[in-house]
Order: sequence, then C-alpha cells, then structure tokens
Amino acid sequence: MSQTTSTSRTTVRELPSRVRAMNDGKRRGEARSKAGWAALYAWQVERDSTTPIFRQVYLQMRAAILAQRLAPGAKLPSTRALAAELGVARASVISAYEQLLAEGYLTGRVGSGTYISSDLPEPVERRGPGRRKPATAAAPLSPQARAFADLSAFAVEDENRPFTNARVLIDSRTIETWRKLSQEMFRNFDPIHRGYADARGLIALRRAICDYLGAARGVRAAPEQILVTAGTQHAIDLATRVLLSPGDEVWVEDPGYPMTRRALAASGVTLRPVAVDAQGLNVRAGLRLAPKARAAFITPSHQYPLGIMLSMARRLELLAWARETGSFIIEDDYHSEYRYAGRPLAALQGLDEAERVIYVGTFNKVLFPGLRLGYVVVPPPLVQSFAGARFLLDRQPPTLTQGLVAEFMRQGYFAAHIRRMRLLYRDQRDLVVGELQRRLGARIAAAAPEQGMHLVAYLGDGFSDVALEKTLREHGVIVRALSRMYLKAPPRQGFLLGFTGFPRQVIAPAVARLARVVANAKA
Ligand SMILES: Cc1ncc(COP(=O)(O)O)c(C=O)c1O
Repeated sequence: MSQTTSTSRTTVRELPSRVRAMNDGKRRGEARSKAGWAALYAWQVERDSTTPIFRQVYLQMRAAILAQRLAPGAKLPSTRALAAELGVARASVISAYEQLLAEGYLTGRVGSGTYISSDLPEPVERRGPGRRKPATAAAPLSPQARAFADLSAFAVEDENRPFTNARVLIDSRTIETWRKLSQEMFRNFDPIHRGYADARGLIALRRAICDYLGAARGVRAAPEQILVTAGTQHAIDLATRVLLSPGDEVWVEDPGYPMTRRALAASGVTLRPVAVDAQGLNVRAGLRLAPKARAAFITPSHQYPLGIMLSMARRLELLAWARETGSFIIEDDYHSEYRYAGRPLAALQGLDEAERVIYVGTFNKVLFPGLRLGYVVVPPPLVQSFAGARFLLDRQPPTLTQGLVAEFMRQGYFAAHIRRMRLLYRDQRDLVVGELQRRLGARIAAAAPEQGMHLVAYLGDGFSDVALEKTLREHGVIVRALSRMYLKAPPRQGFLLGFTGFPRQVIAPAVARLARVVANAKA
C-alpha cells in the first residue's frame, strides 16, 4: 500500500528542523509583508489639530513602521485610496509619502506601488509589536486560572516521533478522495455554508453517523438524537455541563483516561476512582465506594489504557445500577473502528432500555486528529438540553468539514478506509510486538491488543516506567508511562506505545533504541 505521510518523504529526524524553519522569523516576516495589513490599518487624522494633515500622516506611518506594526516589504495603500479613506486631499498624502521615501522609510515610487523599506534608517524598537511592560505587578491568578495554566504544558503539538499515540497514517487513497471531495464542495459552495445551521450538526452527517453506528456498533438511535461535536473531549464537556453539578460524585476508571479526569476535575465534580480487573470496571467496587454517584465515565469496548473489554455480566450490572439510581453512563467508544480479531461486543448504548447511556465517538482517530470532529448520541429527553448547550458554547460545528465527512461516509469511502487501515495497523501492531519480544524477551510483556491504536508493554519488577519514559525521550522514543494513569489502585509499570503513526521502516529502529535503553536500565 502506498503511504503519503510526512514521514514517508522525510525521515523523522529531519522533521523538527523543518518545523523550525517554518517558524523562522524571516518567513514570518515575508508572510506578514504580503498579507495586506497596511490596507486595513486604522489610519486616522484629526482635522481640528494644529498639526498639518500631511505631517499627521507622515508621523503615523513612521511610528507604525518603527514599532513594527507593519512589516518591511509591506505594500502601502495607494495615495488615492488612502486620501479617499481619510477624506483628505490627495496632495497631503503624496507629501507624506514623498518625505518618507526621501528619508528611506519607504521604497518604490509614488504612483507605482510604495513599500516599507527593508533597510530602515533608524533601529526599530527593541520590543516586539504589541508587547508592553505591565504597569504594575501581575495580579495573582484565580485558582481556576492556575489550574488551567497547569494544563498548558500538555496543550502543545504532540511530538512527531514513535511511539506517540496521537498520530495516524493516512494513505494516499484517502488523501486523494479528500482532495476530490473538497474541490467539489468548494465548487458548489452550498448555501448552507453562508448562514448559521442546526447546532446539532448537518442532518446529512447525522444520518450517515446513525447508519454507521447502527450497523457497526449496534447503537439504537434516530439521527435527531445525534449531535456532531469537535471530538471526545468536547462531548465529555457537554455531558458534564448538562448532567452534573459541582460536588456531584462520578465514577472514573482506575487506571483511566487522563483527559476525561482532567475535564471532570476542572468542572468541580468529585472523582471516585473505581478499580478495573480482568472483566473491566468492577461495578461492585463502585457500588461500595459511591452508590449514589451521578454518572460513570467508562471505555467499555477497549478499556483505556489496559485494552480490556467490559464483560457482558458487568455491562448488565452497570446498566442496572444506572436504571435504579437514575445515574448516567458516559460510554467513550474510542478506537472501536479498529478491531483486528475476536468478536466485538456491541455498544452498551444498544442494551440500554432506560435512556441512561450517553454514547461518545470520534472521527479524530479513525480519520486524523487535526479534523476535530466527533459525535455524541443522547437519549431523546436530553436532546434539547445538549443542543442548547452546544448552541450557547460555540453555536454549531463547522459546516464545510461536516459536509466533507458526510460525503466521505455516504459514498462508501469511510468503510473502505477503515478496512484498509485495519490491515495496515494490524501489521504494524504485530511488528512492534514481535520486535519487542525479539529484543527484550522476558524483560517486557507485550501482547497484541485485539482493538485500538496503542498497545501496553508491561515492565518486569523493579523498573520505573516514569524514569524510563524520560530517558527514552532523550533517545528519540516517546512512550507514556502506564503508572501515571492510576489514581488509587496499585500502579503497574509499563509503557503505552502507539503503533499507528509511523511506517514500518521507522518502527523497527525505534524498538531497537527502546530495547537498548531498557536493557541498560537497572531493574
Ligand atoms: C480514551 C480516549 N478517548 C477518546 C480519544 C479521542 O479524543 P478526541 O476525539 O478528543 O481527539 C482518545 C485519544 O487518544 C482516547 O485515548
């Protein structure tokens, strides 16, 4: 299969320098000079001032240039256009431009394009544009501002190195289809894009999601119950706002998905970590710990991070608890598209007779993370509340990307994409597991998961996964320490390794580097 990924054309080592080049100030300057900001600049004149109009224009322009509010190379508006905009005589603007030309602030000729000089006569101000020194010491941050600031370390681009689990390989067929569908979409530019649309999302996409979920996941719902979101994280936020109040108790899996926990903690609810065993979430442990919890946030089809499928007995216990207490189950069915072996259990939502399950899915992994599109299926009595919350928060999902994904699904490309990627990812999963076993033997226990985009490699006794995570990063290998995913339960040591972001030729050398680091570590 041909792969058109950034890594197939450049080596992974080359990427950081390429990214640096893109952020390079020179290129940024070029982009700014072409962007046409001078035509939008808020030029002003005061008619009552004793300063002549030509001088006001001159001083303003010089100040804008020296403060770098306009970049060298930027094209200035024509004297005619600027005079008309300011409502002044053209001769005044011409005089101002001529003086700036004479002093070397501008280049070109009045009448045939005038530009800000790249070789300015006096040094530009040291401070970057728009940055000012605070007049007083910074006011202390509120507790919530501090808590959000603490998260900012995670809110950066993920590292583009194996085995981050935040990357996917999209093959050339999917990219070509995407290109073709986007061209059609922009050519037609449907009137729907020119106005506001349904806060729940485009009906064409909701219908396609409904058909897919009914067939592939046994979800029972009408398109009216589906809301298009920006992904799982957005759906969790919506569910929290609609269903929970600060102080409410909620069950979370232990170990579990840190992003769900962070979102819940930020909303002020009380987390009750419930242990996970070989059958998945231990419902009885949850009942002992917090029988009246308002909600349970779980990953039943592929427990995050351990990959366990919640047994049927546990599913029925969980649904019975929710029915009896009126609590909600938020089912995060992430990665369920990528099932490689074994019989999947249908979604919990399909077994729910009491309208307790909120089903959450995402396109950000099955397609690509930059898409930011997902969905939530809600019981009929909650549809209006979710739609109102979505409307208030950011009105609606973007219509263009929704239209694209709807067509991608409707024309059968989505199903074909999943079938192709399943084969590729299964192959890559087997390669990672095989290489780990070959190189590390008993030092590590890695089994091939039946579903998903990451695997767990358990370390033998005496290793510290957090310490190794740091050392491996220094060797260009990204792993997530398993022990970080635990709250109260005794943590196991191991790594989470994503196997969907990098082609085979990158995987084998990366496992070799990982193996060297682990082999040299003291157990
Ligand atoms: C448990 C879990 N749910 C959902 C997602 C996807 O999240 P999103 O749709 O917000 O990108 C991930 C991504 O890694 C995940 O691990």
